[in-house]
Amino acid sequence: MHALSLLPLLLPALIASHGLILSPAPRTVTDASLDACGRAITTAITKDNTSYVEQLTPLAAQPGSGYNASACNLALCKGLQYAPTVTLADGEPTVPLYTPGTVLPMKVWIRIPHAGIANVSVVDTKTNEAIAVLKSWDVYAAGKVGSLPKDNEEFEVTVPDTACRCAFEGQCVVQWWWFGTQVRQTYASCVDFRSVAEGVRCERPME
Ligand SMILES: *[C@@H]1O[C@H](CO)[C@@H](O)[C@H](O)[C@H]1NC(C)=O
Ligand SMILES: *[C@@H]1O[C@H](CO)[C@@H](O)[C@H](O)[C@H]1NC(C)=O
Ligand SMILES: *[C@@H]1O[C@H](CO)[C@@H](O)[C@H](O)[C@H]1NC(C)=O
Repeated sequence: MHALSLLPLLLPALIASHGLILSPAPRTVTDASLDACGRAITTAITKDNTSYVEQLTPLAAQPGSGYNASACNLALCKGLQYAPTVTLADGEPTVPLYTPGTVLPMKVWIRIPHAGIANVSVVDTKTNEAIAVLKSWDVYAAGKVGSLPKDNEEFEVTVPDTACRCAFEGQCVVQWWWFGTQVRQTYASCVDFRSVAEGVRCERPME
């Protein structure tokens, strides 16, 4: 095929949309994500950290993509993995601890809006089960940059009591999820956290 004839196909992808959590700090590409999702997908996310799931899915099938289907679930945090970071002197990981009831201010970046639906939920990363929906929008990102409802990009969620399910790093994320209903594109971004009520002791699960 002549290269130019591909242009109409490529252009919509290039100008397509998207968003990302700005704060708290979201999961990003790390060696753990590279191991699980492979170079094709992690390179695409590095180039555009607001990329969408449907654009990443075909990359998994590319020969030599390095994609590992049992480790990289693109429908959860776009496949981005929990990455153990620095551990503090007392052995505690640097993943933030939000006790139940914590009001968490969040900021997201809607780089290119596409009308759709959205929610913010606490997701169990082993099962991809939404343990709790913290916020949802029936109409989201319907408008232009600069004139979107303020609460599309700046809002608060209240961390629920998840007993011992989110007590340790990597077990749960706060996932911001947005689906552009017209363009049929899924955007997601995740924040790692731990949560346990004061005085509650939880057993670290076996690997
Ligand atoms: C996302 O990419 C933008 C550049 O487009 C960069 O400024 C920003 O720091 C990145 N954010 C994260 C969390 O990687
Ligand atoms: C793919 O991921 C699974 C689960 O993490 C792991 O057990 C397996 O060894 C990985 N396969 C390869 C080829 O890396
Ligand atoms: C909420 O987000 C999840 C992803 O965590 C998605 O699968 C689900 O369809 C969303 N629900 C609604 C009602 O938007």
